[in-house]
Amino acid sequence: MSAQKRTTKPPAKKRKPAAPKKRKSAAPKAKPKRTTKAPAKKRASAAPKAKRTTKAPARSEAPKAKRTQKTTRKKRASVAPKAKPKAKAPKSKPRVRVAAAQATKATNATKPKTTKSALHTRICDMFGIDYPIIQTGMGWVSGASLTSATSGAGGLGILAAATMTFRELQESIAKVKSRTDKPFGVNMRADQSDIMKRVELLIHEKVKVASFAQAPGERVIKTLKDAGVLTMPTIGARRHAEKVQAWGVDAVIAQGQEGGGHTGQIPTSILLPDVSAAVDIPVVGAGGFRDGRGLVAALSLGGAGIAMGTRFLLTKESQVPEHVKRIYLDTKANGTVVTKAVDGYPQRVIRTLLIDQLEKANPLTRFPRAALNALSLMRVTGTSLPELLEEGLAMKQNQELTWAQLAMAANAPMLTKASIVDGRVEAGILPTGQITGVIDEIPSVAELLRRIMTEAEATLEGLGA
Ligand SMILES: Cc1cc2nc3c(=O)[nH]c(=O)nc-3n(C[C@H](O)[C@H](O)[C@H](O)COP(=O)(O)O)c2cc1C
Repeated sequence: MSAQKRTTKPPAKKRKPAAPKKRKSAAPKAKPKRTTKAPAKKRASAAPKAKRTTKAPARSEAPKAKRTQKTTRKKRASVAPKAKPKAKAPKSKPRVRVAAAQATKATNATKPKTTKSALHTRICDMFGIDYPIIQTGMGWVSGASLTSATSGAGGLGILAAATMTFRELQESIAKVKSRTDKPFGVNMRADQSDIMKRVELLIHEKVKVASFAQAPGERVIKTLKDAGVLTMPTIGARRHAEKVQAWGVDAVIAQGQEGGGHTGQIPTSILLPDVSAAVDIPVVGAGGFRDGRGLVAALSLGGAGIAMGTRFLLTKESQVPEHVKRIYLDTKANGTVVTKAVDGYPQRVIRTLLIDQLEKANPLTRFPRAALNALSLMRVTGTSLPELLEEGLAMKQNQELTWAQLAMAANAPMLTKASIVDGRVEAGILPTGQITGVIDEIPSVAELLRRIMTEAEATLEGLGA
C-alpha cells in the first residue's frame, strides 16, 4: 500500500444507505491466542475438503502445524530456517458457519445465485479475467514471470514497475505479451518523474489496468481513462476510496493492515465492508488472503474479489531466491511487525535483527544511510540527479515530506532489493503480509488459482449458496 498518510479515523461522512441487515450467523471464530510454544494440534479448519486436487489448502483457523516444531525462542530471519513437515488435511468436514447470503452483493441478496455466478464478479467482466483474483504489483517481486503466469492462469497479474527503469518496464511488458495474450496490469508510483511517459507506454501497449501504490492525480487518471486503460489505486481508508472514485478511477484495492509492504491501520475485516458500502466502483480486498475461504469471505464483505501479494510471492514463478522464500515460510503470524523505521511510513515486514537495529537507531544516524540509499536507487532505476530532484520535489509537494523523510523514502526499495533480489537477508528488509504466518508451501501459480477456486466453490456449496 502506499506511503500516503492515513488517518486512523476518517471524518464522519454521508454513507450510502445501509445494506439490508444480514442474517445473524456465527462469525468465524477469532484465532486462538498463540503461546510461544504451540502444542501439536489437530486442525480446526472450517475449510471444506471437497474437490481437493493436490495438497490440502493451508488452514486458517488453527495454528500452523509446522509451528509445533518450533522452540520457545523465536527465530529471527537471519538464522537458517528449518525444514517444515507437510501440512496434514483435516480429518472430518466441519460445518461451515458463515452467512451464505453474504456471498453476493448486498443488493442482490434476495436473488439466489449459483455458485458459479457468485464467483464471477464485476472485476471478471471489467478486467476480462476468469477468476476474481489479482496478483498485486510487488516491487522487485512481480516481474514478467509471475505476472504472465497469473494472467495466463485466469487471474490478473500486475507488473511492479515502481522499481523498474523505463526500459525494464518496456521489456517486461513485451515478455508478458510473448507469454500470454490475457489481460494484465502495471503498478506504478504516480510521483515518478517520468510518469506521463509511462502512462503513454501503457496506452501504446494497450495494457488493461494501471494500478497505483498511492492515489494518482486526476490528470493521470483522465489520460489513462480517455485511452481505455482502467485505473485501480490501492487505498487504506474509506475517505481515500471516496476521493479517488470522484476522480474517476475504475476500481480500488482496499488493503487492510494485515497486508504486506506499506500498510494502514484498519484491518481488512473492517475496511472492506466500510469501503464497499461507501463507493459504487468494485472494491477488491487485500491484506490477509491466501485461499478459497478468504475469497468467499471477501465477497461476503462486499468485495468484488481478492488481491494478494505475499501468497503470490510464495509461488514457484516468483523469482525471489529460494532461501529467502524459506524465511517467509518459517515466519509465524506474529513474526511480522509494522515499522516506520525503514522510510518513515508504516510498513509491514518480517521482524529481523536489522529491523530491531533500525528501530533503535537515532533518526540522525538513519539519515546518512537513507541518503546513500537514495543515490543507489538513482543508479538502479536509471534516474538522473535532476530527475531525482524533480521526483523528490513532486513527492515533497504531494506528501508534505521533510527532506529527511524524502531521503528515507529510498530506503524501502533499496533495502527490499538487498534481500529479495540479491538474497542478502541480513542487509535488507522483507516486506510481508501477516498471512505469511499461515503459508507453508510453494505451489505453482496455476495450482494456487485452481485450488482457491475449487475451495471457494466448495465453501459456497457448503453454505447452500
Ligand atoms: C515484497 C512486497 C513488495 C510490495 N511492493 C509494492 C509495490 O511496489 N507497490 C504496491 O502498490 N504495493 C506493494 N506491496 C503491497 C502489495 O502489492 C499488496 O497490496 C499486499 O501485499 C497485500 O497484502 P498480502 O501480502 O497480505 O496479500 C508490496 C508487498 C510486498 C509483500
